[in-house]
Amino acid sequence: MRDVQVLSSPSSSEYYDSHWSSLLGDKGEFEEFRRDRRIEIIKLVDRSLFNRLFQNSSAISQWGSPRDLQDLGIIGKNILDLCCGTGSYTVGMLEFGANSVTMVDGSHRSLIDMDKKIQQSMRNGTVLPQMDIRNIDIRRIQMDCNFLGRDMKKYLYLNNFSEFDLAICRMALHHLRCPFSSIIDVMNTIKVGGRFYFNFFSFGATPPIIRHLRSHFMEKDYDYVFKFLSLFGMVPKVVGKHSLKQIAANDSYFSYPAFPKEFKDTINSLNHIQKIYGLEALQNKINPEDLNTPYIHNLDFEVICRFVKGVDGIALVRERCEPEITSGWFCIEKTSDNIKFDKSMIPKDHFNHNSQEYMYLGRSFID
Ligand SMILES: C[S@@+](CC[C@H](N)C(=O)[O-])C[C@H]1O[C@@H](n2cnc3c(N)ncnc32)[C@H](O)[C@@H]1O
Repeated sequence: MRDVQVLSSPSSSEYYDSHWSSLLGDKGEFEEFRRDRRIEIIKLVDRSLFNRLFQNSSAISQWGSPRDLQDLGIIGKNILDLCCGTGSYTVGMLEFGANSVTMVDGSHRSLIDMDKKIQQSMRNGTVLPQMDIRNIDIRRIQMDCNFLGRDMKKYLYLNNFSEFDLAICRMALHHLRCPFSSIIDVMNTIKVGGRFYFNFFSFGATPPIIRHLRSHFMEKDYDYVFKFLSLFGMVPKVVGKHSLKQIAANDSYFSYPAFPKEFKDTINSLNHIQKIYGLEALQNKINPEDLNTPYIHNLDFEVICRFVKGVDGIALVRERCEPEITSGWFCIEKTSDNIKFDKSMIPKDHFNHNSQEYMYLGRSFID
């Protein structure tokens, strides 16, 4: 397998490196989600095939006949897995016959050890038998996807690689600075007739308490947030020595002289936040990703629909709103090489009032 190519690195890479390190133990996330991700891919690409295969649970292990796999339209395709994390979709696509998958993520840690992970899965018998380990073509790029337009062009040129047949971006578009221009950047890397599947957080996915917590924590650097959450065992593999509820409930930080003084302003801030939302909410909602990722846009389904329909050269194939998980999946197709887009088409007001992400200057996320 080729080495990881490093083109750029986003400000969130430090956080995601530690996140993926903690999940990539011997048994890790990679193994756990393999089967679920495969089912998701089938559901995403061919809903009727999914219904046929999975409406009857006894068929779950069958994964479809060779003809079914043909219908999925993945066989022989060169696929881009954008913000791929540890690549469970990547392997799913290869199992369903992709020719190559290009993994792109800002975290270097998420991309390394792919060969070991695949070999381990093969040993454990968790990879579908049709995947031929000798022929797998996985390309790995560490890249800040906020610069996809620039860096992918460079990558394709340097590697003498033409455009992709299909692209996928699962649970990450809302973490990019401007999801609208990222959609266009992806469409510019795929062939005419190629499709892009993506989902994102929709309205309501990020509750007000998280926005409030972010307004405090995004002013701090990664080490500070990590150290603070470690005190309460809120980062993987660390046993906490304190109770967040107890600390945040107290009006006075000084009632806990043993608590590290550097966190005084955070304790004061949490004390204020818990008075608004309650201690239970504070304890249950704090999540390291929310306090570290520069952007968590909650995008309006209708606005995304209108946007993709309004760009010449792109057609909306289908969309599926999933209100129960405040998410939505889109499938769009490139209909012409001449995608007509200019920045005035980005509905800027949309994220200014719903997520205020541009206001968090503390960690210099404005690049
Ligand atoms: C929630 S995870 C999703 C991972 C994977 N797609 C999945 O569904 O399992 C978000 C991923 O987006 C990546 N990411 C976030 N911001 C990024 C950026 N600016 N450039 C590149 N990758 C980024 C993170 O490193 C992380 O691996």
